[in-house]
Amino acid sequence: MTTLVTGATGNTGRQVVAELVRRGESVRALTRDPAAAAGKLPAEAELVAGTHTAPESLDAALKGVTRLHITVTAGLAETGPELVRRAVDAGVQRLTVVWGGWVGPVEEAVAASGAEWTRLEPQEFMSNTLTWTESIRNEGVVREPYDHPSALVHEADIGAVAAVALLDDGHAGRAYNLTGPETLTPRERIAILSRAIGRDITFVPITHEQAVDRLMATGVSRADADYVVGWYAEPTDDATTVVDTVEQVTGRPARTFAQWVDEHAERFR
Ligand SMILES: NC(=O)c1ccc[n+]([C@@H]2O[C@H](COP(=O)([O-])OP(=O)(O)OC[C@H]3O[C@@H](n4cnc5c(N)ncnc54)[C@H](OP(=O)(O)O)[C@@H]3O)[C@@H](O)[C@H]2O)c1
Repeated sequence: MTTLVTGATGNTGRQVVAELVRRGESVRALTRDPAAAAGKLPAEAELVAGTHTAPESLDAALKGVTRLHITVTAGLAETGPELVRRAVDAGVQRLTVVWGGWVGPVEEAVAASGAEWTRLEPQEFMSNTLTWTESIRNEGVVREPYDHPSALVHEADIGAVAAVALLDDGHAGRAYNLTGPETLTPRERIAILSRAIGRDITFVPITHEQAVDRLMATGVSRADADYVVGWYAEPTDDATTVVDTVEQVTGRPARTFAQWVDEHAERFR
């Protein structure tokens, strides 16, 4: 049984690859740049060149694949439904998808695919904290528009839930809201980070518009930047309510933010 993972070098995709490899599965990791990806993923994973936003070029990558994990990225709303059709035609029987933050054309195509599917609906990723590395390292500050509460989820837990849904029975037709074990605001995250790296870190408020501009400067569209900063301004109930889905699905408690910080502390020093 071989699984193709799209977005395999990303925050969540690499965790899906790692977990499947840990469980002894045959994994194909899709990347636009295999040279850059080399060394970032477990050696047992087979790197395959391509992009999921060009599904017509994925025939070779899909050959012999019965499981597919889709990471929704920019551009996939247009081509994702075609990817799903081709994958099912090629023999994929089970699909998992990490949503783009809402149920759009790709997520709908997965649910209508006729294959077994599971949709992962993580709330805010702990890895978003990595956007603070430079300002903490260089200035000892974090600039955010809001001190919003968020039940952040560890990317490894998203990978673990995806692997269970891909490999074990009983998860077909389910949409899993995924959170971590606690709700934290940026100031509370800063306090945990500060203790871990042994340095004071100051929270510096910025305006809503400055936060939107900062995201757009990284290549994010105006609509997506408005969505993300709007989400911080008025967090949804799902974003602030801890659920135990990770533990229910994997049998292990969700990882804490303190654990995530232990794993990444060097990057903030
Ligand atoms: N951050 C959050 O808090 C949060 C919360 C909920 C949902 N989400 C959503 O979760 C999804 C997964 O996020 P992630 O952080 O795991 O993804 P990611 O790291 O941003 O991207 C995953 C990989 O996809 C490939 N990729 C990126 N843009 C692409 C494009 N335009 N066309 C084709 N391939 C592209 C890249 O791999 P290669 O360069 O190797 O090809 C990249 O490493 C996203 O849709 C995100 O919006 C995020």
